[in-house]
Amino acid sequence: MLQQLNSDFETQFQTQPTVNAFAPGRINLIGEHTDYNGGYVFPAAIELGTYGMASLRTDQTIQLYSKNFPEQGIVKVNLNQLDFDASHDWANYPKGVIKYLKEQYPEINRGFNLIFEGTIPNGASLSSSASIELVTGWMINALFELELDKLALIKIGQQVENNYMGVNSGIMDQFIIGLGKEEHAILLDTATLDYTYVPARFGDYVISIMNTNKRRSLTESKYNERRAQCEEALSDLQQQLNITQLCDIDLKTFDQYSHLINDDINIKRARHAIAENERTKLAHAALTENDLHRFGQLLNASHQSLKSDYEVTGIELDTLAETAQQVDGVLGARMTGAGFAGCAIALVHKDSIKQLEQEVSTIYQEKIGYAPAFYHVRISDGMKLITHNS
Ligand code: GLA
Repeated sequence: MLQQLNSDFETQFQTQPTVNAFAPGRINLIGEHTDYNGGYVFPAAIELGTYGMASLRTDQTIQLYSKNFPEQGIVKVNLNQLDFDASHDWANYPKGVIKYLKEQYPEINRGFNLIFEGTIPNGASLSSSASIELVTGWMINALFELELDKLALIKIGQQVENNYMGVNSGIMDQFIIGLGKEEHAILLDTATLDYTYVPARFGDYVISIMNTNKRRSLTESKYNERRAQCEEALSDLQQQLNITQLCDIDLKTFDQYSHLINDDINIKRARHAIAENERTKLAHAALTENDLHRFGQLLNASHQSLKSDYEVTGIELDTLAETAQQVDGVLGARMTGAGFAGCAIALVHKDSIKQLEQEVSTIYQEKIGYAPAFYHVRISDGMKLITHNS
């Protein structure tokens, strides 16, 4: 694949790349929609991701090409004109990263060529956008020898989502993609950014990723709406509670004060965030104690809460997760990522993978009318430089 990408680079740009980097995608084991409420998340990087190659130019032109969107051709922009442009489609993600990096690093004073090839299925909630953001930043870091701190780039990725793309997302995706570690998940406290690596060892069980194959629509606006509802709930609670984020309180305190929230929907949204935060801590304890049954039950409870309180699942994700939960050999299943479409994960005994795929496929096709997809991938390292010739 890298050889082919190298020769595509030469075809597109008539020169050789000097930098080659990779950034993974991610799954989130549990801790959904907690990262913009100051709660815990428990994600892991996966071996699907985005490969990129780059070379410096002598002029001020930036050329971007993605093998996933060949119909877009080469997107050409000037280093000094990096504002969002809807017609640039996918290329806005790298453009946003370049814009914010350049604001901080005047060393970025020449144009460059970038090519990308992603192995994450599009719109699958496995973070293809954070993956392309981080691989872009890591290549620029090498091209201009910026000696960037990973956390600084992680924050720039989030800034791109929030201020450039208009999605008010939290920091989970960029964090795990930047700092992931092979065979480990990260337990991240999004209030403090303290984190620990936790061995993602499931013994005879594996994580199966199940893709709804549903085209996402309006995900960004629904996502922003959920975040706004949490903020409204927080500001109602602040009338009597001295807190800065919803996850500052536990469920017991929430139940005592939830009457302050003057909208029934906002009560449900806040309850999900706070309960999910508690489940994430319990799931971490269960995994550490090797209690996979308990871990699986918490996955199921997470899905239920995302379905009824947070209302971000939908019939496709519910069919995948709830069917999987009934299969012999499955300890738990839930949607992963933002929701609405995309993927669910199941913790399944390795001897039951076939059965899971068969049962889920049959029922999903009956109900939804087309087939889901399944992936079994290793938990991998975060972004990395593959080669750098100066
Ligand atoms: C998306 C966002 C993350 C997080 C999840 C939901 O992936 O980018 O910041 O909020 O949704 O947990």
